[in-house]
Amino acid sequence: MSTHEKIDTTAVAETHDALDLRALVPEWIQKLAAYPPGMPLEELEREYGITGSIKLASNENPFGPSPRALAAIEQALSSLNRYPDGSGFYLRRALAERHRVAADAIILGNGSNDIIELVARAFLRRGDDAIMAEQAFVIYQMVVQATGATPRPIPLKHYTHDLDAIAQAIGRHTRIVFLANPNNPTGTIYPRDEWEDFLDSVPSDVVIVADDAYADYVEDPEYPNSLAYHRRGRLLITLRTFSKIYGLAGLRIGYGVGPLEVIEVLNRIRQPFNVSSLAQVAALAALDDTAHVERTRANNRDGLAFLCASCERLGRPYVPSWANFLLIDVGEGARVYEALLRRGVIARPMEVYGLPRNLRVTVGTPAENERFVDGLAAVLGPRT
Ligand SMILES: Cc1ncc(COP(=O)(O)O)c(C=O)c1O
Repeated sequence: MSTHEKIDTTAVAETHDALDLRALVPEWIQKLAAYPPGMPLEELEREYGITGSIKLASNENPFGPSPRALAAIEQALSSLNRYPDGSGFYLRRALAERHRVAADAIILGNGSNDIIELVARAFLRRGDDAIMAEQAFVIYQMVVQATGATPRPIPLKHYTHDLDAIAQAIGRHTRIVFLANPNNPTGTIYPRDEWEDFLDSVPSDVVIVADDAYADYVEDPEYPNSLAYHRRGRLLITLRTFSKIYGLAGLRIGYGVGPLEVIEVLNRIRQPFNVSSLAQVAALAALDDTAHVERTRANNRDGLAFLCASCERLGRPYVPSWANFLLIDVGEGARVYEALLRRGVIARPMEVYGLPRNLRVTVGTPAENERFVDGLAAVLGPRT
């Protein structure tokens, strides 16, 4: 066969019996479902026969990356033959200065997802459990299950983390508690007094992961910045990301701040070059682009107000949000999602979170927000 001949892999698959991996793959991985990837925008447009669609589905920054990040990436392109700096020296130094912590208390990740997974792998074994809210970022349950440990989801109370119930649920086998503040997909926060009571009640050998992915959007004085609660001997890990307000979701970069001993353990199991060189230089440049961050935050503030007011006008309940998205009760989430899609507006249906009545919409530019609201009004029809 010539090397140019195309191999038909479907034919190969059809002429062989399907592989039976049941004896090879641990049962907890057999039970795991892959995170459902979205379709590329271009494919979606082709399938629905639309153009110029807007994506308000993944809580991304509608203004794009910081121009400073783009300039830094351009400069770094010619060094792509080199491996990245495996220690993330300059970025960790900048983050250490910003947060007034030691650089060795910081670990960089291929998105904060990477660090969520490292924490699960470092602390969980079969027979252990980890607690999270039932409607919180889906990745928590997935990474826990992938280690063979048991995820123990706790229902939300009024769409908000029920920190009392979570503290009470901690048992002999609990190793980690995952919290997102603000929470995804509800956008709600728990306030400082509840957080402080929670910290007092959690046993000292349980790791608390405070996922503050949306912290940069919060302007509420009652919001507890978990970074202010790191103390010697406290098993607290704060997660931050460059995917949201910094607009670098496509590059995959986030970080964790925690006790030196914990970060040292996480470093042992991370891949040596888990963060690309472009991600590192872009994040470093984006960190200093306060104009871009301020502009994004102001747009988010106004956009949320507009979306909330529009929901009230349309008679649609919503969950007040402190993040860059809004959870709206549209009655039938899947139907409204489909109908909006046909109009080129991509929001996120919420069945996977057990919220079939809801859609989650990311705050876009003013024009995008208007287009979403116009679409929603048309799809829902006149108010009844
Ligand atoms: C609560 C929460 N944590 C973490 C992430 C993931 O962030 P990253 O892109 O840094 O992996 C998201 C993304 O949507 C999120 O909603």
